Amino acid sequence: MSSGRSTVFLTLFAAFCAGLAALLASAWEATSHTTPLASETLALDSQATVAWAPQDIVLSAQCPPGFENTGAEGCKLRNFYQFYDSLQDRGVGGTQTALPAHRDGFSPEEIDLGRYLFFDPALSGDGSHSCASCHHPALGFSDGRDRSIGVAGHPVKRSSPTLWNVAFLDQLFWDVRAGSLEEQAEGPLYSPEEMGNTREHLLATLNGNETYRRLFRQAFPQGELDEISLGQVYRALAAFQTSLISLNSRYDRYAHGYHAALNQQEIEGMNVFRSFVARCAECHTPPLFTNQQVAVIGAPEPEGLPLDIGAEATWGAAKMKGGFKVPTLRNIEKTAPYMHSGRFATLRETVEFYTKGRGHAVPEGVDMHIHWHIWEPKLTDAELDRLVDFLMTLTDETFSPPIPGVVPSGLAPIGVSPLHNNAPATADRATATEGAAS
Ligand code: HEC
Ligand code: HEC
Repeated sequence: MSSGRSTVFLTLFAAFCAGLAALLASAWEATSHTTPLASETLALDSQATVAWAPQDIVLSAQCPPGFENTGAEGCKLRNFYQFYDSLQDRGVGGTQTALPAHRDGFSPEEIDLGRYLFFDPALSGDGSHSCASCHHPALGFSDGRDRSIGVAGHPVKRSSPTLWNVAFLDQLFWDVRAGSLEEQAEGPLYSPEEMGNTREHLLATLNGNETYRRLFRQAFPQGELDEISLGQVYRALAAFQTSLISLNSRYDRYAHGYHAALNQQEIEGMNVFRSFVARCAECHTPPLFTNQQVAVIGAPEPEGLPLDIGAEATWGAAKMKGGFKVPTLRNIEKTAPYMHSGRFATLRETVEFYTKGRGHAVPEGVDMHIHWHIWEPKLTDAELDRLVDFLMTLTDETFSPPIPGVVPSGLAPIGVSPLHNNAPATADRATATEGAAS
């Protein structure tokens, strides 16, 4: 390099460094003052490096993206699908159909408090697990495992489902044993296998933390008592989870009339998905890609494990043996492995399950009432590939919430992270996701 050119290069480099320093200085200023908006933006930009002290945390007064702040009525979801007619008028599998009823109307502060609770391992008995340990944003709010691992260190019974679009669900868990998000939260919190906490210990932890006391007062100014209540904890967690909306995928753009959003192979896949032969849309009904019902499809258990009777236990009805909630297929690309059992590692394997014959994986001697839409569609290899192409168009994480740089307990947000102690196959995938997000 000639000396003239290297001088130019050095000058440019110096200017670049000065610019970077100014940027970092302003970023630092933004963090130290923690205006809610600035800290949110920063957390989103460089999640891992933000480090405020818990006492600097201030709850956001802004609704999450996709929500309008209506003041008295809280944050209201705004979406294109709200312009469409009901499901009934359009037929199953149509693209321009309305969304079912959903939960919203929480205040920005309730939602943001829920975000801190969700990522704080202090909610578990031994401070090791936050909700995000098993519902990690980088893994589609799942954990990349066939079955989750809680405080007890051995696998829990089932695979962790995504939390995207839970605002629309009125039956929760694979076996639909909870009827609301508030009721659901008690499951993992107090299960000795998941977060291993008790009501008394959780309340003592939160009430003993100055930051939490201040944040709860901010989110629940109406509260009569100065003490934090469990009802407030469940409500804040629910508020945060209802903000996880994923309805802006390439598929959605196609559905709203922008046909170039999908390529020819993906459109072919969509047509197979909606066809009377494959019948996927009968259960995985757009726009949520679930009809919110329970269906018996006879998916296999993990090798060597006994049959999981699913909804039979919830309803005490033998006809529901092996029945599970029809899961949404939104962000399905991110949530491998699949099914309640995590039995299938890839989407291709999962989709192939449907062509292998009705009831082919049901253990011998078990009487299972397989749903009538599960039959033998005899899909070709090419059709199965196209189905996978189509399912990949349902990915949309644009409203992924920022992971807090610091949580009120001062523990590492997320706690035991599924991104760093997994089997190699999943770890690779997770690293890719992390890289893509930064
Ligand atoms: C140890 C891992 C683990 C932790 C920690 C955990 N979950 Fe889960 N979560 C699961 C598993 C596994 C299921 C499915 C269990 C079942 O259906 O029987 C589940 C189910 C759910 C569901 C139901 C979703 C649906 O579509 O039906 C919600 C909502 C949920 N969890 C929220 C939370 C919240 C909030 C927390 C923190 C308070 C939390 N989870 C902590 C593993 C975990
Ligand atoms: C009769 C209703 C029904 C039909 C028809 C149906 N599914 Fe499913 N699907 C389910 C249920 C129920 C589960 C969960 C079963 C379990 O976990 O044991 C599921 C699970 C899945 C999963 C895994 C989701 C996850 O989060 O792990 C995928 C992918 C899937 N189905 C795709 C399809 C495709 C593609 C078709 C069409 C070829 C189809 N389904 C047809 C009911 C149905």
